[in-house]
Amino acid sequence: MLRGRKVRLRAPEREDLPLFVRWLNDTEVTRYLTLYWPLSMAEEEQWFENLLKRENDRVFVIETEEGKPIGNMGLHNIDWKNRKAVLGIFIGEKDYWGKGYGTDAIKTLLRFAFEELNLNRVELRVFEFNTRAIRCYEKCGFVTEGRLRQSLFRNGRYHDELVMAVLREEWKV
Ligand SMILES: CC(C)(COP(=O)(O)OP(=O)(O)OC[C@H]1O[C@@H](n2cnc3c(N)ncnc32)[C@H](O)[C@@H]1OP(=O)(O)O)[C@@H](O)C(=O)NCCC(=O)NCCS
Repeated sequence: MLRGRKVRLRAPEREDLPLFVRWLNDTEVTRYLTLYWPLSMAEEEQWFENLLKRENDRVFVIETEEGKPIGNMGLHNIDWKNRKAVLGIFIGEKDYWGKGYGTDAIKTLLRFAFEELNLNRVELRVFEFNTRAIRCYEKCGFVTEGRLRQSLFRNGRYHDELVMAVLREEWKV
C-alpha cells in the first residue's frame, strides 16, 4: 500500500468492481474520460481479468485515510526500456472533487514511479475543457508539451487534447 498525506493507494480487488461500474456509469465523471459506452459488470469483470495478466498496466484504488474508496488511478503502458508510463486518474465520488485528494494521490504515485520504479517520465492526455484536472496536474509538476487539435469529439463538436508530462529531474515532492 502506498501512503500519501490524505490518501492511500491499494491494489484493486474483485469486490471493488461494482463500485467501479457505478462510478463509470456516471456521465459527470465519464465526460472527462475516454470511456463513452454504458459499462456492464460483465465488461468490467473482463477488464479486471485482463488486467491481472498485464505486466505493464497497474491500477490502484484511491482511499481516504478512513479507508473509503473514492476513485481509481493507474500507470499504463509502462515502458521499461525508455523508463516512462502513462498516468490515468478519476475520482468517482464527486463530493471529493476539488479538495486536494487528486493532487495527493498523483504526488504519491509519482514518488513511487520515480523513486521505486525508476521511471524517468510520466505523461498523460487531458481534454482541454478539463480545467480542474489541468490545474491539478500543474500542481504536481506536469507541463504542457503539446496540443492535439480537434482530437476529441464530444457533445456535438470537436475539442483539443493537451499532452502533459513530468520528468524525474523536474519533479518535486
Ligand atoms: C481530475 C481529478 C482527478 C482532480 O482531483 P481533485 O481532487 O478534484 O483535484 P485537487 O483538488 O487536488 O486540485 C484541483 C485544483 O483545481 C482547482 N479547481 C477546482 N475546480 C476547478 C475548475 N472548475 N476549474 C479550474 N480549476 C478548478 C482547485 O481549486 C485546485 O487548485 P488549487 O489547489 O490551486 O485551488 C478529479 O477532479 C476527477 O477525478 N475528475 C473527474 C475525472 C477526471 O477529470 N479525470 C482526469 C482525466 S484526464
